Amino acid sequence: MKLQVAVLPGDGIGPEVTRQAVAVLQTVADVCGHDFQFESHRIGGTAIEQDGTPLPERTLSACLESDAVLLGAVGARKYDHCTGAMRPEAGLLALRQALGGYANLRPVQAYDAIADCSPLREDVVRGADILIVRELLGGLYFAQPRALDEDGLSAYNTMRYSVDEIERVAHVAFREARTRRKHVTSVDKANILETSQLWRRTVTETAKQYPDVKLEHALVDSFAMQMITTPARYDVVLTENLFGDILSDEAAVICGSLGMLASASIGGRVALYEPVHGSAPDIAGRGVANPFGAIQSAALLLRYSAGLIEEAEKIQESVRRTLARGLVTPDLAGRRKRLPSGTDAIGEAVVETVADLLQSHMAYHAV
Ligand code: NAD
Ligand code: IPM
Ligand code: MN
Repeated sequence: MKLQVAVLPGDGIGPEVTRQAVAVLQTVADVCGHDFQFESHRIGGTAIEQDGTPLPERTLSACLESDAVLLGAVGARKYDHCTGAMRPEAGLLALRQALGGYANLRPVQAYDAIADCSPLREDVVRGADILIVRELLGGLYFAQPRALDEDGLSAYNTMRYSVDEIERVAHVAFREARTRRKHVTSVDKANILETSQLWRRTVTETAKQYPDVKLEHALVDSFAMQMITTPARYDVVLTENLFGDILSDEAAVICGSLGMLASASIGGRVALYEPVHGSAPDIAGRGVANPFGAIQSAALLLRYSAGLIEEAEKIQESVRRTLARGLVTPDLAGRRKRLPSGTDAIGEAVVETVADLLQSHMAYHAV
């Protein structure tokens, strides 16, 4: 299979983890005889430095012409004082909007081998397997009007949702639930916000088309608590943009590190794959970033943009086996005092394992 992938390493640890994800994809291509083409482009702070804008025209057109986009992270301390379009993050938001992926899937899986790495009790996190479906193109992130008032003394953003925006992401959540444990928890703030009342009504209506899927509603404040006290109770969690942003970082606690989480933004012209974490300026350049979030994003890319389910599952299995061998970066080395490995060593272990698994799979199917 031929696949054109636009690679946007971005800032901070973005390039460090993206390199590992690309190496894993290249290994899959080599072993299985696929033709994956990778072309790197600038985004974020790196692009502001070189091109004067966080999303250069060249980057955007390359993404729109590709089969899938793999992104590292954006954000740099140098731009922390900036507002509006000249922030690295503005480049990512503009890219998301242009690509059109409105459903951001964020799987949260607690691996047994690192169940002791969470600050939560092992018996609490074991078995947790949640899929957060975050609406990505609406709500406070994009709605107008928004501004910092001229006197600098007040500012405002607008929370707005339409029935269409809610319906389309709800369909994705219900369809995903059908492939899992058939349970959707829709999270909102319907006791206060009109947008949430519309959200709840629309999700309830949409659910009628999926009678085999059980729907429950939860208020975001108490849900934030319940998700980490009883994570194994949840299957698909459907929520709006900002709630999903916050809840997914919180959910990372279940996995032991933010560096573990991957994401896929689907439903638009070209899908975008990126780890959930940011540019982690506090550890950038030290070769210790956890690459599993980026590597698992590559697995999602094969699943959703190439339909290569077997290959995607082999990447997942390689992640599981690498963790089971005790190979982790310092963010996970924690409690049981594992010896931490660097980003490259973890990447190499996954590459070797995925090559072995795919070779045995192909040998088995050849006889
Ligand atoms: P962050 O996710 O970059 O880091 C939060 C904490 O988690 C840090 O202590 C960091 O060291 C740790 N961490 C994150 N990823 C890790 C990994 N792979 N391995 C090991 N440790 C990891 O969030 P932040 O510090 O709040 O934000 C830093 C910058 O990143 C900001 O400019 C922010 O806007 C940006 N950001 C970008 C994205 C993105 O590009 N998708 C996402 C979130 C934040
Ligand atoms: C994420 C990030 C982004 C978001 C920022 C960097 C724009 O936090 O992907 O979770 O808020 O969506
Ligand atoms: Mn976030």
